[in-house]
Amino acid sequence: MKSPFLLLTCLVALPGLLGTVATAQPAFVPLPAKIQEGRGRYTLDAATTIVAPTALTNEANLLAARLRTVAGLPAPVATSGTGIVLALDAKLPPEGYELVITDKGVRITGGTAAGVFYGTQTFLQTLPAEVYGMLPAPDADWSAPSLKVTDAPTTTWRGLHLDSARHFQPKEFVLKFIDAMAAQKMNRMHWHLVDSEGWRMEVKNYPKLTQVAEGTPARYPIEIPTNPTIAPKFQYGYFHGPQFYTQDEIREVVEYAARRHVVIIPEIEFPAHAMIVLTAYPEFSTTGKPPAVRSNISPDLISVKPEAIAFLKDLLDETMALFPGKWIHFGGDEAPKDQWQNDPYTQKRIDELGLRAKGPGNPHASEDALQAWLFNEMAAHIAKQGRIPVGWEEIMHGDNINHLAKGSVVMPWLSTDNAVKSANAGYGVVHTSSQLFYLDSRQSTDPREPAALIQRVSSPEELQRFNLFPAGLTEEGRKNILGAQGQLWTELMPRTDDVEYQAYPRACAIAELTWTQQELRGNAAEFMARLSAHGDRLTALGLNHRHLPPQAGLNWTPSFLATDAAWVVAVPAELSTAKGLEIRFNYQSGGNGLDITAVELLADAKPVAEDRHDGFTGTKPKDASYQLAIPANTNGKLTLRISAKGAGGNNSHGKIEISAKP
Ligand code: ACM
Repeated sequence: MKSPFLLLTCLVALPGLLGTVATAQPAFVPLPAKIQEGRGRYTLDAATTIVAPTALTNEANLLAARLRTVAGLPAPVATSGTGIVLALDAKLPPEGYELVITDKGVRITGGTAAGVFYGTQTFLQTLPAEVYGMLPAPDADWSAPSLKVTDAPTTTWRGLHLDSARHFQPKEFVLKFIDAMAAQKMNRMHWHLVDSEGWRMEVKNYPKLTQVAEGTPARYPIEIPTNPTIAPKFQYGYFHGPQFYTQDEIREVVEYAARRHVVIIPEIEFPAHAMIVLTAYPEFSTTGKPPAVRSNISPDLISVKPEAIAFLKDLLDETMALFPGKWIHFGGDEAPKDQWQNDPYTQKRIDELGLRAKGPGNPHASEDALQAWLFNEMAAHIAKQGRIPVGWEEIMHGDNINHLAKGSVVMPWLSTDNAVKSANAGYGVVHTSSQLFYLDSRQSTDPREPAALIQRVSSPEELQRFNLFPAGLTEEGRKNILGAQGQLWTELMPRTDDVEYQAYPRACAIAELTWTQQELRGNAAEFMARLSAHGDRLTALGLNHRHLPPQAGLNWTPSFLATDAAWVVAVPAELSTAKGLEIRFNYQSGGNGLDITAVELLADAKPVAEDRHDGFTGTKPKDASYQLAIPANTNGKLTLRISAKGAGGNNSHGKIEISAKP
């Protein structure tokens, strides 16, 4: 029988058909592997039951909670009935799923409960964005288009890192952060719980760790960096205590994350970034004294004396009891070796362990080997509980690449070359390059962007386009690429709003990078169009995200109109060679409409053509079409600058269409 579903992926993949940007609705992020469009819609109503075997009660309850809160439906969960049926099929990939929506009902089948969960997330994206919110929206259209989606992720590590040491975030924020990750199908949260400035995990055996605060609150000014008129005055080296997560709170967070198929990887950092440890317990320091220097990259190292080794093992035991996930992160970055080099006990241990480096070259080679030995000691300790160590790339530098515990995971933050080397040497690799995946960078060149530690722009387009499999990987090495992760270092993010702004929407680009096969990911214009529309979901999730301007062929939305974000829209590459462009504004729903005063064409941000006239799109549209000739010999990236604002309020939705002028 002929399938009732049309393959929609071709529309998604080929914007520019017929000279217009064709768009698929809904705007899925991350883009599923295969989408087939059917006829008709399924309307949710009071009779809609979520039918699930007991093995999927968690996934059914999470879906039901959304529909009850927002759509005001009873959404009962039962093991039989009709409506939205959840099921398992071991023949599907573990995180894969099939979602079928017809006018009669919905069926979500997953390889495991995780696959079913991701199927429910895709289903939520077929409903109005309000479904992600906390407020009832009974007037929204609670129906979904007929579709068949067949999908599975390409990587197993789709991560975000959260630095809760430099600035502490309350537990409620962490729960919200996990919710937002899960909505993007992300599954690994690397929790940077300890650093020189703060220790955020309650440790029963070493209570002083969370007490170090010197009675000083965080010294970061409260109002930076989202207010760019205030110069950032970040300072390293101050204790940001004494807030911490109790063990009960951590258990709650871990279990909340597990229900959303997010594994938390705690980072217990050694031997450096240890100012707070060595202030609390100077007896575990190399010098036997508390740190004398206050700085981010501190010279102070934890010792390799037996009592310090026992301390680290105790710490890891308490950590493993709280975090049942497979991975424990040992940090290992930025550990200057002078203290170890100048300490007679440490030097004696290097000789006893046979780690003395021979010949010229790296003057700290012996101490670097000692760091790898310490890493391996702790790796062996956690291996007894079936756990896997993770470390920043310093741990594999130099000859250590040949000596780390096999199966360890490396996070190459300094270079993509080291990603290739580590993967080829048999270690798992999570892309974390600071060139791109550090989200304490700028996300656009807009001067209104918040102050960032890294000045380089790391844009969503670039993140989504990254090649997870760079040149030089062997066949084995390719298999060791686990995925990628965005880092949220919070030195300049004193408020949770700052964290959200830097994370979103870039986290969505990392989600697409790690979920969707490279050859299926849309081109930059297509992706940005979807991402812009996805912004309504981020708004409904309550995130203080960066609002992207409406993109060609997609919608402007109330959440965009409510901001003063610039209306700069990329001209799709396919249209850049046309003689001219026509830009049409089409009101769709809500409010009064949109007043437009001008559309300018920019080449590399310089105006080259314009059409200035008053136009209106709404119930009685008037002159809402703008025509621009593209001057001969125009070079560079073409964008449109639109001057428009909501008429009678910001409640309207509508569409911008760009086509080649005949
Ligand atoms: C790092 O940025 N020091 C991992």
